Amino acid sequence: MSAHQEEITRYWDARPGSYDTEAYHGLGDDREKAAWLSALADLIGQPPLDVLDVGTGTGFLALLLAEAGHRTRGIDLSTAMLAEAQRKATALATPPTFVIGDATQPPSDITGMDAVVCRHLLWTLTEPVQALQNWRVALRPGGRVVAIEWFQETAGAWQPYSDEVVASLPLRRLVDPQQVIEAFEAAGLSNVRAVRLDAIEQVEREVWPDAGDPPERYAITGDRPA
Ligand SMILES: C[S@@+](CC[C@H](N)C(=O)[O-])C[C@H]1O[C@@H](n2cnc3c(N)ncnc32)[C@H](O)[C@@H]1O
Repeated sequence: MSAHQEEITRYWDARPGSYDTEAYHGLGDDREKAAWLSALADLIGQPPLDVLDVGTGTGFLALLLAEAGHRTRGIDLSTAMLAEAQRKATALATPPTFVIGDATQPPSDITGMDAVVCRHLLWTLTEPVQALQNWRVALRPGGRVVAIEWFQETAGAWQPYSDEVVASLPLRRLVDPQQVIEAFEAAGLSNVRAVRLDAIEQVEREVWPDAGDPPERYAITGDRPA
């Protein structure tokens, strides 16, 4: 693993304690959960599908998708974040499978996926186009990559890593969804588009009233050519 990735993973290994209780990271209440489930159904389709959640962290997307009835796997390099995901998964009848793994290069036995999803990951990848290429290969023909990110002018002001690591992240400033669209296209994905997640923003405004204006949320989707 590169020194940069080691620093990134060290940061996340120290992070899980408060993560799920923070606005825009965890789920505030059932209204917020319903908004996410509805958005994911629109983006991915009806269960049961085979879905891989890359950079799953504490399992936000993987757990929602498993609850919706999808066969779900989550991978992440942070043992501590994954331990929290695993702890929450015990409440589900059909939990996701969580494994340690690099999102940029998912295990080669993961193939034929209907969807590869991620949330809040692209900004922290050192090689996002290479990752997207590998996700395309992990899909069945016609399968879909869905990346959920937020875009705001102040995004670059928050620097959890050293200056050197921040400088190595091509998508660290997610100000314009066009940057992500271009990365999807460079990775050979087709039908690439950005979808505003207005319903989630609206609910976040209500559920986290003290957290300020919610970030502009988008999903970028792209398909593996059939
Ligand atoms: C902002 S958190 C997002 C977690 C989760 N996807 C969510 O929506 O709450 C970023 C996560 O990406 C993981 N991560 C960063 N680089 C990674 C890589 N190359 N491979 C796997 N996971 C990675 C971190 O360990 C962390 O759990």
